[in-house]
Amino acid sequence: MRAIASAPGKVILFGEHAVVYGRPAIAVPVAQVRATAEVAPGVPGSGLHLVAADLGRTVLLADAPADEPLAAIARLTLAHLGIETAPDTVVTVRSTIPIASGMGSGAAVSSALTRALAAYCGRTLATEEVSALVFEVDKLYHGTPSGIDNTVIAYEQPVYFVKGEPPQPFHIAHPFTLVIADTGIASPTKVAVGDVRRAWQADTDRYERLFDRIGEIVRRARRAIEHSNDDALGPLLDENHRLLQELGVSSPELDRLAEAARAAGARGAKLSGAGRGGNLIALVRPDQAETVSAALRAAGARGVTVTQVG
Ligand code: PMV
Repeated sequence: MRAIASAPGKVILFGEHAVVYGRPAIAVPVAQVRATAEVAPGVPGSGLHLVAADLGRTVLLADAPADEPLAAIARLTLAHLGIETAPDTVVTVRSTIPIASGMGSGAAVSSALTRALAAYCGRTLATEEVSALVFEVDKLYHGTPSGIDNTVIAYEQPVYFVKGEPPQPFHIAHPFTLVIADTGIASPTKVAVGDVRRAWQADTDRYERLFDRIGEIVRRARRAIEHSNDDALGPLLDENHRLLQELGVSSPELDRLAEAARAAGARGAKLSGAGRGGNLIALVRPDQAETVSAALRAAGARGVTVTQVG
């Protein structure tokens, strides 16, 4: 008896950082990259082993420190299910989602693991339970996460998200194409979020105004997406990127990729996620995807993923 579950990557389309301060954000799943977790029976009496296959690392749950992310989600899941003794199992996780690039690799691994472990124990978790458990672990990575990552990944649907409110799954009237380019620079979310917090503390009025302007872009973007107004979407991405530059979370590499995408014909481009490194997203007509991908590679992108949203 084995149990397997998987979860997609994600990108934030609009509203990162401002979402931590109560403004809305929009995020969508990226199905091309996924995390999977498989739970298989172990040797009787051996306890629960966690295997991070990509990293070649195995840890016994009973020996793992509290802040070890795989152990944390396994413990939270068992506690949530009311299971006191960890079953003798081998839990193997794998992921094709780039780490620390803003594509939600941590949340996706947690989401797959909690679902697979629950299934192995003969239980099914509701989506909001998965989301809440993953959120607890994201706090270990991020400090003060808004909750957008766990939500979009657990629901596996586009979401309009406001911190502390029930997520609003979201209708995309007309699918659109995104090119996602990885700078290859790992950027821990906690660091960028902490820097923005310090800057907000030092100049609250300015940062609140920037967050308000981002919030307004997100509301306009939602209307554009719901009404198939693709012409509006590109300029909104560009405007959101400029505001993220003003927040201090872009970088020369991200700006260079944004320029290269626009010069190659993208309709708009912005950084996605915490910034500094991680990913750039560019909105393209489907027939431009290859040209824009090539331009992004030439401008230094390490990996390029083309995805259809909606
Ligand atoms: O996890 P990432 O890198 O996609 O970005 C997190 C988005 C932030 O708004 C910067 C932080 C958050 O918790 O929402």
